[in-house]
Amino acid sequence: MTPWISPSILAADFSRLGEEVRAVLDAGADSIHFDVMDNHYVPNLSIGPLVLQSLRKAGIEETVDVHLMVKPVDRLVEDFLAAGADYISVHPEATEHLHRTLNLIREGGAKAGLVFNPSTPLEVLNEVMDCVDLVLIMSVNPGFGGQAFIESSLSKLSRSRKLISASGRDIRLQIDGGVKGDNISRIAAAGADTFVAGTAIFGSNDYAATIADMRTQIAAGQAQTGA
Ligand code: DX5
Ligand code: ZN
Repeated sequence: MTPWISPSILAADFSRLGEEVRAVLDAGADSIHFDVMDNHYVPNLSIGPLVLQSLRKAGIEETVDVHLMVKPVDRLVEDFLAAGADYISVHPEATEHLHRTLNLIREGGAKAGLVFNPSTPLEVLNEVMDCVDLVLIMSVNPGFGGQAFIESSLSKLSRSRKLISASGRDIRLQIDGGVKGDNISRIAAAGADTFVAGTAIFGSNDYAATIADMRTQIAAGQAQTGA
């Protein structure tokens, strides 16, 4: 799978959000990671479907992956489908009926993602493998940008990669939290193909140079595993 670098707009300058999104895309980002927090499922509050709608109206046509850290989930899935989300990812703890939620996303024309917190076991993945297009491994506890990468996520990535490969399905493996130039090659070697980075990209002075450096490091990591 071609690697994707997906800047998390949580770390962008919200007073200039449209320009920031355009800038990272022009700098080589493959997609945009859109973090939605509700001060209930996670202890923070961020942005909702109106912001995505505005970005679409402002001419952002590229892939947007919406990471829902909200509970309950289903009502907002519909709003984000209407707002133009390409991927919508949900946490199994945040919905009573995960299978129904994943199908709701797909029936609405988007791709469905399943998110695992650091403490959430991977078991449920086998039960819904045929309903997901993306598996997201959280390498921090959700709720805030700028946290340190949890090292045990690397073994979880490798285990996820094995499950996905065994399924033979076309499923992206995304990592989110504390991803930086100095750990991204190890993350790629562990099997990730989709890399969310907030602070590391928006906190840098030169988005294009940062993204290009990440791409080089990813290729080095993939070369180790022959991916
Ligand atoms: C955390 C969010 C992440 C976060 C990543 O709850 O899901 O997407 O913005 O930010 P960094 O890359 O700064 O850890
Ligand atoms: Zn996220």
